[in-house]
Amino acid sequence: MSAPTAASEKGSFPKLEQWEDFVQGRYKEGKSELEFRQYDAKANSGVAEFYRLNHQHQSVDYVLKKEKQYFGLTRGKKSVWEAAEYLNTLIDDSDPDTDLTQLEHLLQTSEAIRRDGHPRWMVLVGFIHDLGKSLCLYGEPQWGVVGDTFPVGCAWSDQIVFPEYFANNPDANVPRYQTKYGIYEPNCGLENVHMSFGHDSYIAEVMKAYLPDEALYMLRFHSFYAWHRHGAYQHLQNEKDLAMLEWVKKFNPYDLYSKGHSKPDVKRLRPYYDELFAEFLPEQLAW
Ligand SMILES: [Fe+2]
Ligand SMILES: [Fe+2]
Repeated sequence: MSAPTAASEKGSFPKLEQWEDFVQGRYKEGKSELEFRQYDAKANSGVAEFYRLNHQHQSVDYVLKKEKQYFGLTRGKKSVWEAAEYLNTLIDDSDPDTDLTQLEHLLQTSEAIRRDGHPRWMVLVGFIHDLGKSLCLYGEPQWGVVGDTFPVGCAWSDQIVFPEYFANNPDANVPRYQTKYGIYEPNCGLENVHMSFGHDSYIAEVMKAYLPDEALYMLRFHSFYAWHRHGAYQHLQNEKDLAMLEWVKKFNPYDLYSKGHSKPDVKRLRPYYDELFAEFLPEQLAW
């Protein structure tokens, strides 16, 4: 994997797979804490550069601006299939090892969940969880779309990958944002916390009106590794978060490890998914 180009920073040719390969390697099953740390240290320069930009720019002001820009869902109406096909136009030209399209990645995730007999809404989550990556197609930079997410407006946990890069974030100079609770109340609940902006919070907003809380937690927090993997930010967590955490954890292996199984047959699977989408969602969704 190579260092990001200027084009990838602007979002024209995003290398989304790069971050996902990194996370997959980082949380490889059976890895010791020591190996985990060494993996971080040896992370390739492209991923390091990605996190340098992410941690520098994801400030309170940035997040509030992006929430305002996107959470009103003013980017037109699309069905789930249309959204998936739109996302599929995102060509990852940097990774010759991955011949899977975005749509195939979504289907691999959802099919693995389906095979294990989980509830139908969870199969749906598998399919839709990365649709928010269409933010790249709206011109958002890669570091503002994928990557570990974290709360803004309070002290950063050292469980966030590459915490040293936060030194360049403007919030480092705002004392109010640097206390344990920052702008939040103790145990205020993660739903009341502003997370760094990206595809997770965006897709959760799109689906908010239609899916159960368990599903929305999987969508909103699937990249919040500091919380669901490392147990950080428990001081902001409430009882609902604690109950939902087990579902977020249940989803994570499917996101990480369903790659590499056989290529899904989109045509054959389509009728099942037509029915699944119709069960939970309106034909057209606001994006
Ligand atoms: Fe994701
Ligand atoms: Fe994913």
